[in-house]
Amino acid sequence: MCGIIGYIGPRDPLPILIDGLKKLEYRGYDSAGLCVKNGGALHVVKKRGAISDLESELRGRDMPGHVGIAHTRWATHGEPNETNAHPHLNGDGAIAVVHNGIIENYYALREWLTREGCVFRSQTDSEVLPHLIGHFYEGDLERALLHALQFVEGAFGVVAVHKDENRIVAARRGSPLILGVGEDEMFAASDVPAVLDNTRKVVYLHDNEVAVITAGRYAITNLEGAPIDKQIHEIQWTVDQIEKKGFKHFMLKEIAEQPESLRNTLRGRIKAGRIKLNLDVDPLAIERVIITACGTSWHAGLIGKQFIESLTRIPVEVDYASEFRYRDPIVRPTDLVVAISQSGETADTLASVREAQSKNAKVIGVVNVVGSTISREVASGIYLHCGPEIGVASTKAFTSQVAAMLLLALFLRQERGLALDAGLLESLAALPALAEDYLGEARDAFEIAERFQFAHNFLYLGRGLNYPVALEGALKLKEISYIHAEGYPAAEMKHGPIALIDHDMPVIFIATRSQIFDKIVSNMQEVKARKGRVITVLDEDEPNVTALSDYVIHVPRVREELSPIVNALPLQQFAYAIADLKGLNPDKPRNLAKSVTVE
Ligand code: AGP
Repeated sequence: MCGIIGYIGPRDPLPILIDGLKKLEYRGYDSAGLCVKNGGALHVVKKRGAISDLESELRGRDMPGHVGIAHTRWATHGEPNETNAHPHLNGDGAIAVVHNGIIENYYALREWLTREGCVFRSQTDSEVLPHLIGHFYEGDLERALLHALQFVEGAFGVVAVHKDENRIVAARRGSPLILGVGEDEMFAASDVPAVLDNTRKVVYLHDNEVAVITAGRYAITNLEGAPIDKQIHEIQWTVDQIEKKGFKHFMLKEIAEQPESLRNTLRGRIKAGRIKLNLDVDPLAIERVIITACGTSWHAGLIGKQFIESLTRIPVEVDYASEFRYRDPIVRPTDLVVAISQSGETADTLASVREAQSKNAKVIGVVNVVGSTISREVASGIYLHCGPEIGVASTKAFTSQVAAMLLLALFLRQERGLALDAGLLESLAALPALAEDYLGEARDAFEIAERFQFAHNFLYLGRGLNYPVALEGALKLKEISYIHAEGYPAAEMKHGPIALIDHDMPVIFIATRSQIFDKIVSNMQEVKARKGRVITVLDEDEPNVTALSDYVIHVPRVREELSPIVNALPLQQFAYAIADLKGLNPDKPRNLAKSVTVE
């Protein structure tokens, strides 16, 4: 977690750093700080709270200079406050460091450095870095950083400056870092949006690489100091793509963008009745598929399992990446491991990729962020192409992940010599237009949200392909509205949760047409019999279902395979509407960060 931006060049760094931090706020926002080097002095300002708080603190201050580094924090070690905010300084204040990641051996390093005379001011693991670099400093910041990193265990994206050197030194292991290449100026940042207002040219740093940037120049080496040649990438997104475009929140904008994001995920992948994917796998050799992911991406994985099993009959397991990585899983070279991640940076998912690779499985990624660590570490994969997702609650990435998993299942089926259902391909291709029509009109979820904004608990029930949608609906609600919500397979309700049902426990049923539609109706009756209040997501007027429902959220009728995508849309709207009615900011839910790059 945490966001880093560094600048060196002829311009005043302050506005560049603040703008960069604002673009990175999705990575963490409990405190922020920056350091501007002016002549031979480092000026540091830090503030608890959002970037806007730091900005207010800086109003009216003159901080001239040509070199600066800044950081927005998501606390891991030490509570969010000014002292623990970055940048951190070494003892004599000559070196300033911003860090993203976790220094796992910080305690031992801190003890040792304390014995060497260093005085620590914060409770953070990060503060060992400036002290360690300072300990080895002999007039060359790059050498000192290389020396220091030999002692560091854990993950870092680290950017450092020294008061007497006109350069910025950066290094990464496990936490993302890119360079922005401008005209006579350079940037270092955790992510591309931070530099996009200034340059479209970026260089992606890989693990164990160190960069030294001066105005208009950069040099990259490995940790032993050997030079590395790197390619410059031209970014294709527009800055406009990462702004709110008049929507009240990013989340609302991203919900509305789903026709477009789905279009982009499907673009060029269904052609002449065939699925085109560029995957480095031998579909005939696959004996089992293992899907690994976290959170919303894991929900998409549960749907993907059903797609792959029903279309290919290849057995599929779905694992939380955090569990998979530590349980010494049985993985064979004939397994295809699919890592699903919007950010491509989730620490547990990345670790599960590495675990599977170490056991010689074929690993592919289903990733949104191009150039992210997972996308670079897998031999091939499916990019979602749904554009930057800034809202912490994943929306458009989820529907694109589900679409991508359906493409994958269809591809495997096709490559194993089985016929594809032309009708399904046609419906899939038509889905973005259908989502567009629906989202243009859909008001049910917003209206019903007004009646339920004060509820304390919700139960979401679905079956088959829509059981993971129930999980996803519940996750959306709890993460942004702080209302307790549980998703369950509808038939499991009677094995426990039914005890909770009364007038105060609204139950959301996903009851669109499926092979087990009648079973869902029986589950609804069970809830109604206990005076539960029922909200039903329904795709056509079924008098018996309408009679059992207190409220109905209408969705268009689609093929069952596509129903998880369509049904997720009103549940996203519902969660958004409740959070907004409660006066909460759904883009920045408490305690959460967009990209979970620590365990
Ligand atoms: C979803 O709304 C979440 N905020 C979260 O569960 C997320 O899906 C999870 O952290 C995985 O992220 P990833 O897709 O970037 O790997």
